[in-house]
Amino acid sequence: MSKKHSFRTEQEAFWAGDFGTDYINRNIGDDLLASNLAFFSKALGSARSVKTCVEFGANIGMNLKALKLLYPSMHIQGIEINLDAATRLAKSIGEENVIKGSILEVSPPECDLALIKGVLIHIDPESLPLVYRKITAATRRYLLVAEYYNPAPVAINYRGHENRLYKRDFAGEIMDAHPEMTLIDYGFVYRHDPHFPQDDITWFLLEKKNEVSV
Ligand SMILES: C[S@@+](CC[C@H](N)C(=O)[O-])C[C@H]1O[C@@H](n2cnc3c(N)ncnc32)[C@H](O)[C@@H]1O
Repeated sequence: MSKKHSFRTEQEAFWAGDFGTDYINRNIGDDLLASNLAFFSKALGSARSVKTCVEFGANIGMNLKALKLLYPSMHIQGIEINLDAATRLAKSIGEENVIKGSILEVSPPECDLALIKGVLIHIDPESLPLVYRKITAATRRYLLVAEYYNPAPVAINYRGHENRLYKRDFAGEIMDAHPEMTLIDYGFVYRHDPHFPQDDITWFLLEKKNEVSV
């Protein structure tokens, strides 16, 4: 994929371009890493035997770095649309573990854990069913969804941009469309948490059950 690649949605072009590159330097550092360590130790507390993980929209790897510290033998891979972020991600986790391109276009690997955090909120709403199919197909067992929750879909102005940020019940919609995915844990991390804040994210740990009763 080159920088001139034409995307099917305006949201993908937004993240592949300058906004996505500028995002990198606002979301880096030891405090964020500490918050991510606290976040994953809680959100994955019910998960067992996770040996492989793929993150959708991994940016420069701040989540994957935390996972590798918590689970040193875990094999981690990331999908990223912004080439500047993907280049830095490749330096951190190895070129062979980075899939450069859009979630809407690439073929994700199958892993024990699929992770998506702060990314569904930025996807074109019409494309969500496709992304839900890809993230549920990518997991052999667990799917961790960490996004902004709202019971009904709403669009929010994002740093002065319209149609770039949506809140909804992403995990509920995934379970409705993919009944093999069942909820095993969930929680919220407040931006004013005195120790390990996150950006008001609500997380849902889903597990794939092979037998679905009807
Ligand atoms: C708000 S950032 C979140 C980054 C990271 N997941 C985290 O929790 O810090 C959204 C990330 O998703 C990437 N992204 C957005 N749309 C994407 C798409 N269609 N395919 C792949 N990556 C995408 C962006 O480039 C950016 O790195």
